[in-house]
Amino acid sequence: MGRRVILLRLVLLINAPIVENLLLNFRARKPPGETVGMIEEVERENEGKKRFGGLGGVRMREVPKEDFYFTSKMARKVLGSMERDEDAIEVSLDLNRSSLHLLLQGNYLILPTGKQVERSALEHIAKTNKIYIYRQDTFSPLEIMNNNYYKLVPTDRAPTLEISGIQMHRTKNCEPFSDARQKVGEAVRRGDVVLDTCGGLGYTAIWSRRFGAKQVISVEVDEEVRAIRKDNPWSSEMFSESGITLVDGDVFTYIGSIPDNYFNSIVHDPPRFSLAGELYGKEFYRQLYRVIKPGGRVFHYTGNPYSKGKKRDFVGGVTRRLKERGFTVFPRPEKLGVLAVK
Ligand SMILES: C[S@@+](CC[C@H](N)C(=O)[O-])C[C@H]1O[C@@H](n2cnc3c(N)ncnc32)[C@H](O)[C@@H]1O
Repeated sequence: MGRRVILLRLVLLINAPIVENLLLNFRARKPPGETVGMIEEVERENEGKKRFGGLGGVRMREVPKEDFYFTSKMARKVLGSMERDEDAIEVSLDLNRSSLHLLLQGNYLILPTGKQVERSALEHIAKTNKIYIYRQDTFSPLEIMNNNYYKLVPTDRAPTLEISGIQMHRTKNCEPFSDARQKVGEAVRRGDVVLDTCGGLGYTAIWSRRFGAKQVISVEVDEEVRAIRKDNPWSSEMFSESGITLVDGDVFTYIGSIPDNYFNSIVHDPPRFSLAGELYGKEFYRQLYRVIKPGGRVFHYTGNPYSKGKKRDFVGGVTRRLKERGFTVFPRPEKLGVLAVK
């Protein structure tokens, strides 16, 4: 059974009344007459990557895609325009990567495919802090309930991943994609072979390639994380970039299979210590030292231990253990981590 079917079933189990309501209300309708809500793309996410064959920034028409993403903020914006009886609205249907002007007809938002979304569906989405994907005429929240609860959480730009209430990226005074850029910028140089120890949504892997890495090996242990990122438009480059190799597994085990002096740089972005203590331990640091080339750089994200109320010696402990393994360590408090050089 396909992952998406499992996801939908889980959603139905967890959220049966809500989903039933959604399925009832959210089914898109056939457009009246020839109405098509397809509009010019006016803006796009534009950080070194063009999605449409180098035409970034140019006004153009595109063939409508079938997957559209809705957030509460965007739903509220559309509802506001409906209130004001406006005819059109500029919104993003791909989580802030680009924006479109869409038509409004009374209580309906007209999608680029010509399908209509009812006001009641938008009212429901407006009340949640989830991301809904509209696919095959149905809305489903991007979430998975298992031993943990996983959900993609909207921000004003790229989403973050929340695992049982813990966010995997910085979102305060920062947004997740830029957060990844800063981490990668500390370690990765053009032509590098890079280890991305904790792949997550793939932002660090994507930035490693954008910084010119020749090859990136990105390891992710969690099946649910790997499933959710497939539906995240901001992760798409990690699947389309030939220079990124995805490894499904535990980096602690995987690193043991790597030859000595293999990587030029490593981005080590583990979950917090309480969730993955072994990735902050002496043995793992020994492996990091072994697999990186002399002169190679590791950016190790340590979280927010510099902030008030946290134990002041947390970074001290990380630094000490890295030094014991042979690294020279430079604090990077503004990036919430340390740079370790072999
Ligand atoms: C802070 S997030 C990484 C975010 C990621 N760098 C990005 O750009 O989106 C940590 C990730 O590490 C994964 N993880 C935890 N333990 C791991 C392990 N032993 N091996 C590989 N991945 C692991 C978690 O499932 C989670 O997705």
